Amino acid sequence: MTLGAALGLASVVTPSAAWSWSPSGSIAGAGTGVDPQWVWDDEIDQIMASALDNGQVPAINDAILPWVNNGQAVPSGLPPELAAFLQREKQLPAWADMAKLRRAANFNRKKDMYLFFLYGLGGGIMSTVIPREAKSVYWSAGGADMQDRAAKTFSFGYDLSDINAFETSGQFLVTSNKTRLVHAAVRHLLPQSPHWKAVADETIPISNADILVTFHSTGTFAHKKMKEWGIPMLSADQDAFLHSWQVALHMLGVRDEYIPSSWNAAHAQSAQVLTPILGLTPEGKALAEVLLGLISQVDLGVTRGFLNEFVRYQLGNEIGDWLELKRDYVSAGLIRVGWPAYIAFREGLLPLVPANFYLFDQLIKAIAMAFLNRGESGLTTPITIPTGNRAG
Ligand code: HEM
Repeated sequence: MTLGAALGLASVVTPSAAWSWSPSGSIAGAGTGVDPQWVWDDEIDQIMASALDNGQVPAINDAILPWVNNGQAVPSGLPPELAAFLQREKQLPAWADMAKLRRAANFNRKKDMYLFFLYGLGGGIMSTVIPREAKSVYWSAGGADMQDRAAKTFSFGYDLSDINAFETSGQFLVTSNKTRLVHAAVRHLLPQSPHWKAVADETIPISNADILVTFHSTGTFAHKKMKEWGIPMLSADQDAFLHSWQVALHMLGVRDEYIPSSWNAAHAQSAQVLTPILGLTPEGKALAEVLLGLISQVDLGVTRGFLNEFVRYQLGNEIGDWLELKRDYVSAGLIRVGWPAYIAFREGLLPLVPANFYLFDQLIKAIAMAFLNRGESGLTTPITIPTGNRAG
């Protein structure tokens, strides 16, 4: 039986609209106008394809394991073309502005509670209704162990938000390059998966467009929600926050002609590439169930009903209904009143701790315990390059 039949679902395939976002709103300021769904990451894709075909990946994984900090040299023992690639690509782009990146780090620290909810719950569950992402994640090797995969993805957000992210002592330049290698490997592996091929509407996954979509489901979504929720944000902070994402997209191999140069341009791009493609797939439904199950099984008094309603509060009832998140109207009421009060208290606009404050704090702890697998050592779950796909 197929996964879709098992869940009683027909896969929803939404054709994407033609690409018309203007490169004048990009970092590069101009471009070819080529639709980014046909753009991948050619040089590293070829390097990783040949490393996989020649059985070199386990040795590469051993070599990159101790490579963690931005200031560390590219490890020895790598195929020469990979070492040369990393040597060049671990540098920040010429347009990166360290002052803005430091400001972004401070902003991330001040807003970390909101970002935690927005990335961890809103963005995380939104990724399950992005059909191409859900199918890739489900059918790649990591899809079989979502707790581990979510922990690794969290480490990306964690390293990006860290106060030292872009400094010599930080880790983001290494984490983003490792991620780029994993994505390149997945582009070679997934087209060999009969399961993925049976459901995919593309021949090679993780195009530049797909990565932009993920940015909009996390960074752009967080910006939109924080504005909607009335969280005070200086315009220089908003700029800096965008800048850290611009650098992140560049480090993940997105061409500068597609990277939005302003929040207005980003929201316009999001409306074009993200909103119309949201849809339900059997893979996405299964992934959402696993993710929400992992959070609600942490025994901190956060009920599954509360969790379902907080997802609905962030993403809306249409997505909540697709995922068949059971209603809990008492929790929905608590969130409608309690969340704005929680924000007001955190922003110093309410003198007294609001009732039910603890529920949101417990939820943060539950998400952290489910996914932020840093343990006592403080070490991130290492990102490793997969050598195969999910078996079935
Ligand atoms: C792996 C982050 C976009 C599919 C990873 C990993 C990170 C990451 C940190 C390594 C963790 C791991 O090995 O599981 C990101 C970020 C993105 C992005 C920050 C964009 C802003 C995408 C997109 C897709 C995708 C658009 C698919 C359409 C995958 C897959 C893996 C992966 C299939 C490999 C999982 C495995 O090991 O089997 N990504 N990703 N990612 N990503 Fe992404």
